[in-house]
Amino acid sequence: MTQDNKLQVEAINRGTVIDHIPAQVGFKLLTLFKLTATSERITIGLNLPSNQLGKKDLIKIENVFLTEQQANQLAIYAPQATVNRIDNYEVVRKLTLSLPDRIDGVLTCPNGNCISRSEPVASGFTVITREQQVQLKCKYCEKEFEHQAVIQNA
Ligand code: CTP
Ligand code: ZN
Repeated sequence: MTQDNKLQVEAINRGTVIDHIPAQVGFKLLTLFKLTATSERITIGLNLPSNQLGKKDLIKIENVFLTEQQANQLAIYAPQATVNRIDNYEVVRKLTLSLPDRIDGVLTCPNGNCISRSEPVASGFTVITREQQVQLKCKYCEKEFEHQAVIQNA
C-alpha cells in the first residue's frame, strides 16, 4: 500500500477537496482566496506525505463548490493541484488546473510606484506568456513581471 492510499484526513460526504497542493502553499491559498470565509466545516492537512510531491497540503471544504474559473485562479500558486467535487462520498468531478487569462484581487504589483499600491483598488494582472516562463502584466502600471516575482510579493 502506498502512502497516498491511506486516508490521511477524514473523507467528506459533499463538497470540495483541493489536493496535491505543494507544501507551504496550502495556508497561502486559504488566506489569499479567502477560503475560510464560510461557516462550513473545513479540514486541512499540511505537510502530508505524498508519493508525487514528497510532501503536500490538502484542503477539504464541505458543502462548497468552486466554479472552473475559481479553481483555475488557484493555479497561479498551485498549478499541479486537483480540485475534486465530492457528492455522496464519491469524486464526481476532478479538475486539473490551467492558468486563467486574468488574475484579480490576490496579487500585489511588484512596482512600488504603481497606483495599485497606494490606492484601495483590487490588483489585476493579465497572463501574457505561457511558454517557458509565465509573464504577468499589471493592468494599472502596464509593467510586465515574471510570475515568480509577483508571487514572492504576496
Ligand atoms: N476524498 C475525500 N472524500 C471523499 C472522496 C475523496 O476527502 N468522499 C479525497 C481523497 O482523500 C483525495 C481526493 O479527495 O484526497 C481525491 O480523491 P480520489 O480521486 O479518490 O483520490 P486519488 O485517486 O488519489 O486522486 P488523484 O488521482 O487526483 O491523486
Ligand atoms: Zn502595477
